Amino acid sequence: MERTVGIDAIGVHVPGYTLPLDDLARARGVPVEKVRIGLGAHEMAVAPPWEDAVTLGANAALRLLADGSLAAEEVGLLLVATETAVDHAKPVGIFLHELLGLPASCRTVELKHACYGGTAGLVLAASWLRSGEAGGRKALVVATDIARYEVGSSAEFTQGAGAAALAVAEAPRLLALDPASGVYARNVYDFWRPLDRREALVDGKFSVDCYLDALDGALADWRTRGGTAADLTTAVAALLYHTPFPKMAQKAHARLVAHELARLGHSEVDVDAEAARSFAALVEPSLGVSRLVGNTYTASLYLCLAWLLEREGRRLEGRRLGLFSYGSGCCAEFFTARPVPGSAARAARIGAQALLQARRLLTVPEYEEFARAGAGAERPAEGGAGFCHLAGIEDHKRRYARSWEAA
Ligand code: CAA
Repeated sequence: MERTVGIDAIGVHVPGYTLPLDDLARARGVPVEKVRIGLGAHEMAVAPPWEDAVTLGANAALRLLADGSLAAEEVGLLLVATETAVDHAKPVGIFLHELLGLPASCRTVELKHACYGGTAGLVLAASWLRSGEAGGRKALVVATDIARYEVGSSAEFTQGAGAAALAVAEAPRLLALDPASGVYARNVYDFWRPLDRREALVDGKFSVDCYLDALDGALADWRTRGGTAADLTTAVAALLYHTPFPKMAQKAHARLVAHELARLGHSEVDVDAEAARSFAALVEPSLGVSRLVGNTYTASLYLCLAWLLEREGRRLEGRRLGLFSYGSGCCAEFFTARPVPGSAARAARIGAQALLQARRLLTVPEYEEFARAGAGAERPAEGGAGFCHLAGIEDHKRRYARSWEAA
Protein backbone atom coordinates (compact mmCIF):
# COMPACT_ATOMS: atom_id res chain seq x y z
CA MET A 1 0.00 0.00 0.00
CA GLU A 2 1.26 3.52 -0.90
CA ARG A 3 2.47 5.49 2.14
CA THR A 4 0.63 8.76 2.88
CA VAL A 5 3.21 11.53 2.96
CA GLY A 6 3.01 15.30 3.10
CA ILE A 7 3.59 18.43 5.15
CA ASP A 8 3.58 17.81 8.88
CA ALA A 9 4.19 21.45 9.91
CA ILE A 10 5.02 24.82 8.32
CA GLY A 11 7.26 27.52 9.83
CA VAL A 12 7.45 30.95 8.20
CA HIS A 13 9.62 34.02 8.49
CA VAL A 14 9.65 37.49 6.93
CA PRO A 15 12.05 40.36 7.68
CA GLY A 16 10.94 42.93 10.26
CA TYR A 17 10.66 45.76 7.70
CA THR A 18 8.09 46.63 5.06
CA LEU A 19 7.78 49.37 2.46
CA PRO A 20 4.32 50.71 1.47
CA LEU A 21 4.28 50.55 -2.33
CA ASP A 22 2.09 53.66 -2.65
CA ASP A 23 5.09 55.59 -1.26
CA LEU A 24 7.49 53.90 -3.68
CA ALA A 25 5.14 54.63 -6.61
CA ARG A 26 4.99 58.34 -5.69
CA ALA A 27 8.79 58.47 -5.34
CA ARG A 28 9.25 56.91 -8.79
CA GLY A 29 6.52 58.97 -10.50
CA VAL A 30 4.40 55.88 -11.20
CA PRO A 31 0.58 56.04 -10.77
CA VAL A 32 -0.33 54.47 -7.41
CA GLU A 33 -3.20 52.54 -9.10
CA LYS A 34 -0.76 50.87 -11.51
CA VAL A 35 0.88 49.10 -8.57
CA ARG A 36 -2.17 48.71 -6.31
CA ILE A 37 -4.58 47.59 -9.06
CA GLY A 38 -2.33 46.77 -12.05
CA LEU A 39 -0.04 44.50 -10.00
CA GLY A 40 -2.32 44.00 -6.98
CA ALA A 41 0.59 44.73 -4.61
CA HIS A 42 0.38 46.90 -1.47
CA GLU A 43 3.65 46.44 0.45
CA MET A 44 6.93 44.60 0.06
CA ALA A 45 9.13 43.06 2.73
CA VAL A 46 12.62 44.52 2.80
CA ALA A 47 15.55 42.47 4.08
CA PRO A 48 17.98 44.51 6.22
CA PRO A 49 21.74 43.93 5.79
CA TRP A 50 21.82 41.49 8.73
CA GLU A 51 19.32 39.11 7.06
CA ASP A 52 20.16 36.86 4.11
CA ALA A 53 18.89 33.57 2.67
CA VAL A 54 20.55 31.73 5.59
CA THR A 55 18.95 33.78 8.38
CA LEU A 56 15.52 33.89 6.72
CA GLY A 57 15.52 30.12 6.25
CA ALA A 58 16.95 29.40 9.69
CA ASN A 59 14.42 31.69 11.35
CA ALA A 60 11.53 29.92 9.58
CA ALA A 61 12.87 26.48 10.57
CA LEU A 62 13.76 27.48 14.14
CA ARG A 63 10.11 28.36 14.67
CA LEU A 64 9.27 24.67 14.13
CA LEU A 65 11.85 23.62 16.71
CA ALA A 66 10.83 26.35 19.17
CA ASP A 67 7.12 25.44 19.16
CA GLY A 68 7.83 21.70 19.35
CA SER A 69 6.39 20.86 15.88
CA LEU A 70 9.71 19.25 14.95
CA ALA A 71 12.68 17.88 16.89
CA ALA A 72 16.16 18.35 15.40
CA GLU A 73 17.06 14.68 15.93
CA GLU A 74 14.08 13.54 13.78
CA VAL A 75 15.47 15.17 10.61
CA GLY A 76 17.26 12.83 8.19
CA LEU A 77 17.21 15.02 5.07
CA LEU A 78 17.60 18.81 4.75
CA LEU A 79 16.83 20.29 1.33
CA VAL A 80 17.27 24.06 1.01
CA ALA A 81 15.82 25.75 -2.06
CA THR A 82 17.05 29.21 -2.94
CA GLU A 83 18.03 31.34 -5.89
CA THR A 84 19.74 33.90 -3.66
CA ALA A 85 22.42 31.73 -2.08
CA VAL A 86 25.33 33.33 -0.20
CA ASP A 87 28.16 31.33 -1.81
CA HIS A 88 28.71 29.56 -5.13
CA ALA A 89 30.03 26.38 -3.46
CA LYS A 90 29.15 26.31 0.24
CA PRO A 91 25.42 25.57 0.49
CA VAL A 92 22.93 27.55 2.59
CA GLY A 93 21.87 24.21 4.08
CA ILE A 94 25.11 23.57 5.91
CA PHE A 95 24.75 26.84 7.85
CA LEU A 96 21.19 25.78 8.74
CA HIS A 97 22.46 22.33 9.71
CA GLU A 98 24.58 23.98 12.42
CA LEU A 99 22.09 26.70 13.44
CA LEU A 100 19.31 24.11 13.87
CA GLY A 101 21.53 21.54 15.60
CA LEU A 102 20.70 18.77 13.10
CA PRO A 103 22.29 15.31 13.44
CA ALA A 104 25.59 14.61 11.64
CA SER A 105 23.78 11.78 9.79
CA CYS A 106 21.32 14.26 8.20
CA ARG A 107 22.03 14.60 4.45
CA THR A 108 21.93 18.19 3.22
CA VAL A 109 21.96 19.75 -0.21
CA GLU A 110 20.96 23.03 -1.88
CA LEU A 111 18.50 23.00 -4.78
CA LYS A 112 18.23 25.59 -7.53
CA HIS A 113 15.72 26.10 -10.25
CA ALA A 114 14.59 29.73 -9.75
CA CYS A 115 11.24 29.84 -7.89
CA TYR A 116 10.52 26.16 -8.56
CA GLY A 117 13.24 24.94 -6.14
CA GLY A 118 10.93 24.75 -3.10
CA THR A 119 8.55 22.44 -4.93
CA ALA A 120 11.46 20.36 -6.21
CA GLY A 121 12.49 19.94 -2.55
CA LEU A 122 8.99 18.96 -1.48
CA VAL A 123 8.51 16.31 -4.19
CA LEU A 124 12.01 14.88 -3.67
CA ALA A 125 11.41 14.69 0.08
CA ALA A 126 8.06 12.97 -0.57
CA SER A 127 9.79 10.40 -2.82
CA TRP A 128 12.43 9.74 -0.13
CA LEU A 129 9.65 9.09 2.39
CA ARG A 130 7.59 6.93 0.01
CA SER A 131 10.65 4.83 -0.83
CA GLY A 132 10.97 3.76 2.83
CA GLU A 133 14.59 5.02 3.00
CA ALA A 134 13.67 7.59 5.65
CA GLY A 135 13.32 4.83 8.25
CA GLY A 136 10.90 6.84 10.41
CA ARG A 137 12.81 10.13 10.07
CA LYS A 138 11.45 13.38 8.61
CA ALA A 139 12.69 15.69 5.86
CA LEU A 140 13.03 19.42 6.31
CA VAL A 141 12.51 21.48 3.14
CA VAL A 142 13.41 25.16 3.46
CA ALA A 143 12.53 27.67 0.73
CA THR A 144 14.26 31.00 1.33
CA ASP A 145 14.87 34.04 -0.87
CA ILE A 146 15.32 37.77 -1.27
CA ALA A 147 13.84 39.08 -4.53
CA ARG A 148 15.97 41.99 -5.76
CA TYR A 149 15.72 43.95 -9.00
CA GLU A 150 17.41 47.14 -10.12
CA VAL A 151 16.32 50.21 -8.13
CA GLY A 152 14.18 52.34 -10.46
CA SER A 153 13.23 49.45 -12.81
CA SER A 154 9.59 48.43 -13.41
CA ALA A 155 10.34 45.16 -11.60
CA GLU A 156 11.32 47.09 -8.43
CA PHE A 157 7.69 46.90 -7.28
CA THR A 158 7.79 43.10 -7.36
CA GLN A 159 10.59 42.59 -4.81
CA GLY A 160 10.18 40.95 -1.40
CA ALA A 161 11.83 38.57 1.06
CA GLY A 162 10.79 35.60 3.16
CA ALA A 163 11.10 31.91 3.88
CA ALA A 164 8.99 28.84 4.54
CA ALA A 165 10.19 25.69 6.31
CA LEU A 166 8.23 22.51 5.61
CA ALA A 167 8.58 19.48 7.86
CA VAL A 168 7.75 16.59 5.50
CA ALA A 169 6.72 13.27 7.01
CA GLU A 170 4.74 10.08 6.74
CA ALA A 171 1.18 10.33 8.13
CA PRO A 172 1.43 14.16 8.03
CA ARG A 173 -0.56 16.18 10.54
CA LEU A 174 -1.16 19.15 8.20
CA LEU A 175 -1.40 18.35 4.48
CA ALA A 176 -1.39 15.01 2.64
CA LEU A 177 0.07 15.10 -0.89
CA ASP A 178 -1.76 13.29 -3.70
CA PRO A 179 0.59 11.13 -5.81
CA ALA A 180 -0.35 12.62 -9.24
CA SER A 181 1.86 15.47 -10.35
CA GLY A 182 2.26 17.21 -13.73
CA VAL A 183 5.55 18.75 -14.88
CA TYR A 184 6.58 21.11 -17.69
CA ALA A 185 10.17 22.19 -18.45
CA ARG A 186 11.66 24.27 -21.29
CA ASN A 187 14.84 26.33 -21.70
CA VAL A 188 13.81 30.02 -21.86
CA TYR A 189 15.55 33.29 -20.89
CA ASP A 190 12.68 34.99 -19.06
CA PHE A 191 14.42 35.74 -15.73
CA TRP A 192 18.03 35.11 -14.76
CA ARG A 193 20.85 36.36 -12.52
CA PRO A 194 24.41 36.05 -13.82
CA LEU A 195 26.92 34.90 -11.19
CA ASP A 196 28.44 38.36 -10.66
CA ARG A 197 25.12 40.18 -10.08
CA ARG A 198 23.12 40.79 -6.91
CA GLU A 199 19.97 41.95 -8.77
CA ALA A 200 18.05 39.70 -11.16
CA LEU A 201 17.58 40.46 -14.86
CA VAL A 202 14.18 39.88 -16.37
CA ASP A 203 12.30 40.04 -19.65
CA GLY A 204 9.13 40.96 -17.75
CA LYS A 205 6.33 40.53 -20.29
CA PHE A 206 7.96 37.39 -21.74
CA SER A 207 8.23 35.94 -18.21
CA VAL A 208 4.48 36.30 -17.78
CA ASP A 209 3.88 34.45 -21.08
CA CYS A 210 6.36 31.70 -20.11
CA TYR A 211 4.59 31.26 -16.75
CA LEU A 212 1.18 30.90 -18.44
CA ASP A 213 2.46 28.47 -21.11
CA ALA A 214 4.09 26.39 -18.36
CA LEU A 215 0.76 26.25 -16.51
CA ASP A 216 -0.92 24.81 -19.61
CA GLY A 217 1.90 22.28 -20.00
CA ALA A 218 1.88 21.17 -16.36
CA LEU A 219 -1.92 20.78 -16.34
CA ALA A 220 -1.82 18.69 -19.52
CA ASP A 221 0.89 16.44 -18.06
CA TRP A 222 -0.99 16.13 -14.74
CA ARG A 223 -4.03 14.78 -16.64
CA THR A 224 -1.93 12.02 -18.18
CA ARG A 225 -0.60 11.03 -14.73
CA GLY A 226 -3.83 10.37 -12.89
CA GLY A 227 -5.15 13.91 -12.31
CA THR A 228 -8.94 14.03 -12.10
CA ALA A 229 -10.92 14.38 -15.34
CA ALA A 230 -13.45 16.62 -13.53
CA ASP A 231 -13.45 20.42 -13.95
CA LEU A 232 -10.70 21.64 -11.60
CA THR A 233 -12.67 24.72 -10.56
CA THR A 234 -15.29 22.47 -8.99
CA ALA A 235 -12.97 19.61 -7.91
CA VAL A 236 -10.89 21.75 -5.53
CA ALA A 237 -11.71 24.08 -2.63
CA ALA A 238 -8.78 26.41 -3.37
CA LEU A 239 -6.18 27.03 -6.07
CA LEU A 240 -2.76 28.36 -5.09
CA TYR A 241 -0.36 29.78 -7.66
CA HIS A 242 3.26 30.90 -7.47
CA THR A 243 2.68 34.62 -6.85
CA PRO A 244 5.42 37.08 -7.86
CA PHE A 245 2.66 39.73 -7.57
CA PRO A 246 -1.05 39.08 -6.93
CA LYS A 247 -2.21 40.05 -10.44
CA MET A 248 -0.08 37.16 -11.76
CA ALA A 249 -2.26 34.72 -9.81
CA GLN A 250 -5.31 36.35 -11.39
CA LYS A 251 -3.83 35.90 -14.88
CA ALA A 252 -2.90 32.29 -14.04
CA HIS A 253 -6.40 31.56 -12.83
CA ALA A 254 -7.92 32.95 -16.04
CA ARG A 255 -5.57 30.67 -18.03
CA LEU A 256 -6.51 27.64 -15.92
CA VAL A 257 -10.22 28.37 -16.43
CA ALA A 258 -9.65 28.77 -20.21
CA HIS A 259 -7.71 25.46 -20.20
CA GLU A 260 -10.56 23.67 -18.44
CA LEU A 261 -13.32 25.17 -20.60
CA ALA A 262 -11.47 24.23 -23.81
CA ARG A 263 -10.78 20.70 -22.53
CA LEU A 264 -14.42 20.17 -21.57
CA GLY A 265 -15.69 21.61 -24.88
CA HIS A 266 -17.47 24.67 -23.41
CA SER A 267 -16.48 27.11 -26.14
CA GLU A 268 -19.68 29.14 -25.60
CA VAL A 269 -18.73 30.19 -22.02
CA ASP A 270 -17.17 33.66 -21.45
CA VAL A 271 -13.72 32.82 -20.00
CA ASP A 272 -13.18 36.19 -18.25
CA ALA A 273 -16.60 36.15 -16.58
CA GLU A 274 -16.12 32.53 -15.50
CA ALA A 275 -12.61 33.23 -14.15
CA ALA A 276 -13.80 36.31 -12.27
CA ARG A 277 -16.66 34.28 -10.75
CA SER A 278 -14.42 31.59 -9.25
CA PHE A 279 -11.39 33.79 -8.41
CA ALA A 280 -12.86 35.26 -5.21
CA ALA A 281 -13.69 31.86 -3.73
CA LEU A 282 -10.76 29.78 -4.96
CA VAL A 283 -7.75 32.09 -5.23
CA GLU A 284 -8.18 35.36 -3.34
CA PRO A 285 -8.08 33.77 0.17
CA SER A 286 -4.41 32.77 -0.26
CA LEU A 287 -3.17 36.09 -1.65
CA GLY A 288 -3.13 38.35 1.42
CA VAL A 289 0.46 37.47 2.28
CA SER A 290 1.73 38.21 -1.24
CA ARG A 291 0.02 41.60 -1.25
CA LEU A 292 1.92 42.52 1.92
CA VAL A 293 5.26 40.72 1.44
CA GLY A 294 5.86 40.72 -2.33
CA ASN A 295 7.75 38.08 -4.23
CA THR A 296 9.65 35.53 -2.16
CA TYR A 297 10.66 33.35 -5.13
CA THR A 298 10.98 29.73 -3.84
CA ALA A 299 8.90 30.48 -0.73
CA SER A 300 6.04 32.29 -2.49
CA LEU A 301 3.71 29.32 -3.02
CA TYR A 302 4.34 28.01 0.50
CA LEU A 303 3.75 31.36 2.19
CA CYS A 304 0.42 31.48 0.33
CA LEU A 305 -0.31 27.96 1.60
CA ALA A 306 0.64 28.87 5.18
CA TRP A 307 -1.52 32.01 5.04
CA LEU A 308 -4.53 30.11 3.68
CA LEU A 309 -4.30 27.24 6.17
CA GLU A 310 -3.72 29.55 9.14
CA ARG A 311 -6.82 31.59 8.34
CA GLU A 312 -9.18 29.04 6.77
CA GLY A 313 -7.92 25.67 8.00
CA ARG A 314 -11.23 24.54 9.45
CA ARG A 315 -13.20 25.15 6.23
CA LEU A 316 -10.57 23.30 4.19
CA GLU A 317 -10.04 20.15 6.29
CA GLY A 318 -10.46 17.05 4.10
CA ARG A 319 -11.00 19.12 0.94
CA ARG A 320 -8.63 19.17 -2.04
CA LEU A 321 -6.31 22.08 -2.91
CA GLY A 322 -4.60 22.61 -6.28
CA LEU A 323 -1.06 24.03 -6.25
CA PHE A 324 0.94 25.44 -9.17
CA SER A 325 4.65 26.12 -8.88
CA TYR A 326 6.61 28.04 -11.54
CA GLY A 327 10.35 28.63 -11.74
CA SER A 328 11.74 30.80 -14.52
CA GLY A 329 14.11 29.28 -16.93
CA CYS A 330 11.78 27.24 -16.74
CA CYS A 331 10.28 24.33 -14.80
CA ALA A 332 6.74 24.11 -13.43
CA GLU A 333 4.61 21.60 -11.57
CA PHE A 334 0.91 21.18 -10.78
CA PHE A 335 -0.21 18.91 -7.95
CA THR A 336 -3.00 18.52 -5.41
CA ALA A 337 -3.09 17.97 -1.66
CA ARG A 338 -5.60 17.72 1.23
CA PRO A 339 -5.49 19.36 4.67
CA VAL A 340 -5.95 16.31 6.90
CA PRO A 341 -8.83 16.04 9.40
CA GLY A 342 -7.83 17.71 12.67
CA SER A 343 -5.18 19.91 11.02
CA ALA A 344 -6.93 23.26 11.57
CA ALA A 345 -5.77 23.74 15.16
CA ARG A 346 -2.17 23.09 14.13
CA ALA A 347 -2.48 25.44 11.14
CA ALA A 348 -3.92 28.22 13.30
CA ARG A 349 -0.59 28.35 15.17
CA ILE A 350 1.60 29.06 12.10
CA GLY A 351 1.82 32.73 13.06
CA ALA A 352 2.21 34.38 9.63
CA GLN A 353 -0.33 37.09 10.38
CA ALA A 354 1.36 38.04 13.67
CA LEU A 355 4.74 38.30 11.94
CA LEU A 356 3.35 40.72 9.36
CA GLN A 357 1.68 42.85 12.01
CA ALA A 358 4.95 43.19 13.97
CA ARG A 359 6.90 44.77 11.09
CA ARG A 360 8.17 48.36 11.04
CA LEU A 361 7.22 50.60 8.09
CA LEU A 362 10.21 51.96 6.17
CA THR A 363 10.42 55.25 4.32
CA VAL A 364 11.66 55.20 0.72
CA PRO A 365 15.09 56.67 1.68
CA GLU A 366 15.47 54.01 4.43
CA TYR A 367 14.64 51.29 1.90
CA GLU A 368 17.15 52.75 -0.57
CA GLU A 369 19.78 52.79 2.16
CA PHE A 370 19.17 49.06 2.85
CA ALA A 371 19.28 48.35 -0.91
CA ARG A 372 22.66 50.14 -1.20
CA ALA A 373 24.20 48.55 1.89
CA GLY A 374 26.24 45.41 1.52
CA ALA A 375 25.51 42.38 3.69
CA GLY A 376 26.66 42.32 7.27
CA ALA A 377 25.90 45.66 8.99
CA GLU A 378 25.45 45.48 12.75
CA ARG A 379 21.91 44.62 13.84
CA PRO A 380 20.28 47.31 16.01
CA ALA A 381 18.24 46.38 19.09
CA GLU A 382 14.97 46.86 17.14
CA GLY A 383 16.29 44.65 14.32
CA GLY A 384 13.13 42.60 13.75
CA ALA A 385 11.77 39.28 14.91
CA GLY A 386 13.88 36.17 14.57
CA PHE A 387 16.17 33.76 16.29
CA CYS A 388 19.35 34.44 14.36
CA HIS A 389 21.08 37.06 12.25
CA LEU A 390 24.21 37.64 10.21
CA ALA A 391 26.84 38.78 12.70
CA GLY A 392 29.69 39.55 10.31
CA ILE A 393 31.78 38.59 7.29
CA GLU A 394 35.55 38.22 7.67
CA ASP A 395 37.92 36.77 5.12
CA HIS A 396 34.85 35.94 2.94
CA LYS A 397 33.51 33.75 5.77
CA ARG A 398 30.04 34.40 7.18
CA ARG A 399 29.36 34.26 10.89
CA TYR A 400 25.83 33.92 12.26
CA ALA A 401 24.58 34.64 15.78
CA ARG A 402 21.77 32.58 17.27
CA SER A 403 19.70 33.72 20.22
CA TRP A 404 17.71 30.50 20.52
CA GLU A 405 18.84 27.49 22.53
CA ALA A 406 17.31 24.02 22.36
CA ALA A 407 15.39 23.10 25.52
N1 CAA B 1 -4.19 51.96 -13.19
C1 CAA B 1 -4.46 50.63 -13.12
N2 CAA B 1 -3.74 49.70 -13.80
C2 CAA B 1 -2.70 50.12 -14.55
C3 CAA B 1 -2.36 51.49 -14.67
C4 CAA B 1 -3.15 52.43 -13.94
N3 CAA B 1 -2.88 53.74 -13.97
N4 CAA B 1 -1.29 51.58 -15.48
C5 CAA B 1 -0.96 50.32 -15.87
N5 CAA B 1 -1.81 49.44 -15.31
C6 CAA B 1 -1.80 47.97 -15.42
C7 CAA B 1 -1.46 47.47 -16.83
O1 CAA B 1 -2.61 47.48 -17.67
C8 CAA B 1 -0.98 46.07 -16.50
O2 CAA B 1 -2.10 45.23 -16.24
P1 CAA B 1 -2.33 43.94 -17.17
O3 CAA B 1 -1.07 43.11 -17.07
O4 CAA B 1 -3.50 43.26 -16.56
O5 CAA B 1 -2.56 44.44 -18.54
C9 CAA B 1 -0.27 46.23 -15.15
O6 CAA B 1 -0.73 47.49 -14.62
C10 CAA B 1 1.25 46.25 -15.25
O7 CAA B 1 1.65 47.28 -16.11
P2 CAA B 1 2.64 47.03 -17.35
O8 CAA B 1 2.09 45.98 -18.25
O9 CAA B 1 2.95 48.35 -17.93
O10 CAA B 1 3.89 46.33 -16.73
P3 CAA B 1 5.26 46.85 -16.13
O11 CAA B 1 6.11 47.40 -17.19
O12 CAA B 1 5.06 47.65 -14.90
O13 CAA B 1 5.87 45.43 -15.70
C11 CAA B 1 6.08 43.32 -14.73
C12 CAA B 1 5.17 44.52 -14.93
C13 CAA B 1 6.43 42.71 -16.11
C14 CAA B 1 5.37 42.27 -13.92
C15 CAA B 1 7.37 43.80 -14.01
O14 CAA B 1 7.04 44.25 -12.73
C16 CAA B 1 8.42 42.72 -13.89
O15 CAA B 1 9.22 42.51 -14.81
N6 CAA B 1 8.46 41.98 -12.72
C17 CAA B 1 9.43 40.90 -12.50
C18 CAA B 1 9.12 39.66 -13.33
C19 CAA B 1 7.94 38.87 -12.83
O16 CAA B 1 7.51 38.97 -11.69
N7 CAA B 1 7.40 38.04 -13.73
C20 CAA B 1 6.28 37.18 -13.40
C21 CAA B 1 6.29 35.89 -14.18
S1 CAA B 1 7.87 35.03 -13.96
C22 CAA B 1 7.76 34.38 -12.39
O17 CAA B 1 6.71 34.27 -11.82
C23 CAA B 1 9.03 33.97 -11.72
C24 CAA B 1 9.40 34.98 -10.69
O18 CAA B 1 8.98 34.91 -9.54
C25 CAA B 1 10.27 36.10 -11.08
